[in-house]
Amino acid sequence: MKVLITGGAGFIGSHFVRYWLKNHPDDEVVNLDLLTYAGNLENLLDIEKNPHYTFIQGDIRDPQAVDKAMAGVNLVVHFAAETHVDRSIMEPANFVTTNVVGTQVLLESALKHQVDHFHHISTDEVFGSLELNTPEKFNETTPYDPRSPYSAAKAGSDHLVRAYGETFGLPYTISNCSNNYGPYHFPEKFIPLAITNLLEGKKIPIYGDGLNVRDWLFVTDHCRAIDLIILSKKTMTTYCVGGLQKDHSNLEIAKMILQIMNLPEDRIEFVTDRLGHDRRYSVDWSKINQDLGWSPSVTLEEGLKLTIKWYQQNTVWWKRVKSGQYQEYYQKQYLDRKNNE
Ligand code: NAD
Ligand code: DAU
Repeated sequence: MKVLITGGAGFIGSHFVRYWLKNHPDDEVVNLDLLTYAGNLENLLDIEKNPHYTFIQGDIRDPQAVDKAMAGVNLVVHFAAETHVDRSIMEPANFVTTNVVGTQVLLESALKHQVDHFHHISTDEVFGSLELNTPEKFNETTPYDPRSPYSAAKAGSDHLVRAYGETFGLPYTISNCSNNYGPYHFPEKFIPLAITNLLEGKKIPIYGDGLNVRDWLFVTDHCRAIDLIILSKKTMTTYCVGGLQKDHSNLEIAKMILQIMNLPEDRIEFVTDRLGHDRRYSVDWSKINQDLGWSPSVTLEEGLKLTIKWYQQNTVWWKRVKSGQYQEYYQKQYLDRKNNE
């Protein structure tokens, strides 16, 4: 089988490329990635010489590049996207072109090439925000209510995937997953930013009151969920994927990280809140559990320990990522905003 993975040089995509090559060693894997600031071929150094793996640098918004990559493909697993909510607040335009238009270009090409299965990676953020201290959870029937340019653009892409399924018969599946974390996570996101800031002697920046809740899932558990969905061959359907049974606020996560790293709580600083900051995410993953037998295998504590150890042992990787363009972003997002208060 020939598998096209888009965004395979990013955080989750690179774990999935590695996962697929290991678990499906006879398949041909093509990784189509533009290598934006978030794409990094260093995430794939261990598999780059695998004879079953090909990398193509290309833009999912470019129909010619996509058509070329799609030739002979049986399965598409679509990760490529602009993914950071704070950047979507600073500059929304790329989120619309990549996440919405790019997805439509891929769908069109998948249809033309009669691809057997299109799996779209989406997010729980399309469902909006839940109240704190309630038993409410997102599930497959929760109405869409995206509240940031990022989640609105992801919602648009989900609607297009379903539209290509309903209107043109393209066999699809969608997974709406909660917050992933683990090795190779780009250090603009909360957990790797917290860990690498601490390793640099800086503080953990906490937005607002720190009581916002996210539903964290270790990245390889997400890869296993996607694999099961694809192998089930049940198309035209959606699965919600999440990690936790109990709520943990951002402040609690920061304190867990400090405790594992043996650092004091004064290494936390409260900073200006994110605009439109979604209060709480929590995912009901009973459908994928009942239909496909999936459940998370890594506890939050184990996952945080593994992740911290990885960043402690891979300073070259994150120091390179945190240099150059990243510093301009950090200046705008954290330092300029602080100075303007
Ligand atoms: P990431 O930002 O680490 O990686 C995104 C990748 O997409 C990068 O390699 C980038 O170069 C590539 N890309 C961006 N624009 C492109 C374009 N126009 N053409 C081709 N490639 C392009 O993202 P991630 O955190 O690994 O997320 C991957 C997918 O999973 C996204 O669709 C995201 O919405 C979804 N998702 C992420 C999370 C999470 O917690 N990180 C949770 C649920 C769903
Ligand atoms: O829920 C899935 C989504 O999770 C994915 O679809 C997105 O691609 C991914 O980026 C992530 O979005 P979040 O906005 O939830 O993740 P982030 O790591 O940016 O923030 C997690 C929480 O931590 C959120 O409540 C904001 C807060 N935060 C974040 C940063 C970067 C801080 O308190 N301080 C920070 O410096």
